[in-house]
Amino acid sequence: MDATDLDPDPLRQLQAWMAAARDAGQPLPEAMCVATSSPDAEPSARMVLLRGVDSGLVFFTDYGSPKAADIEATGRAAAVLHWMLPVQRQVRVTGAAARVAAIESDRYWATRPVGSRRSALASHQSEVVASRAELQARVDELARLPDDDPALARPDRWGGFRITPDTVELWEAGAFRLHDRIRFRRAGAGWTAERLSP
Ligand SMILES: Cc1cc2nc3c(=O)[nH]c(=O)nc-3n(C[C@H](O)[C@H](O)[C@H](O)COP(=O)(O)O)c2cc1C
Repeated sequence: MDATDLDPDPLRQLQAWMAAARDAGQPLPEAMCVATSSPDAEPSARMVLLRGVDSGLVFFTDYGSPKAADIEATGRAAAVLHWMLPVQRQVRVTGAAARVAAIESDRYWATRPVGSRRSALASHQSEVVASRAELQARVDELARLPDDDPALARPDRWGGFRITPDTVELWEAGAFRLHDRIRFRRAGAGWTAERLSP
């Protein structure tokens, strides 16, 4: 792999690699680890689903969650994706992170199965809950409502974040661990690419 083989826009290359992974049968190619830091530098990481790639990487979550608190406080996040198919590849990004527009969250919320909407409404992510039965009771309560009931609308506390990368590293496995790594850094409206040692 060489920078000249890659799309000059690393986000388009990310989309191409994710599509190739999906076509090759990679389970859950959109699985992405997002790392954040608290203001006092406590790091944490967790998997999310990458739901869109445009000017950045978009995922959806509970705005009351610890990851959201980190992002709101620092305005930064890092993310990594990894696939084994069709070949072993990794994409790492670092960048600014911010809420997407409310309309984007509304649109995505509308595509979610009603069961997933009920679950999000019943759950205040990462808060301690006494039992699974308590959660289920909240879901069952919501299940009594018609699917278009206003109570099943997107709550303000749920929505998307966009990580707008300032670096994107594309990694591809090489023989005898002489891997290829090309790091893109934003340069004006475009990107510069440089090769990193494996
Ligand atoms: C494969 C996978 C995908 C996940 N996708 C999401 C997601 O898109 N959004 C989300 O909020 N949590 C998702 N989760 C759950 C998170 O990993 C995590 O448990 C939750 O968001 C709470 O994180 P926090 O306490 O650090 O905020 C996913 C977990 C796995 C294993």
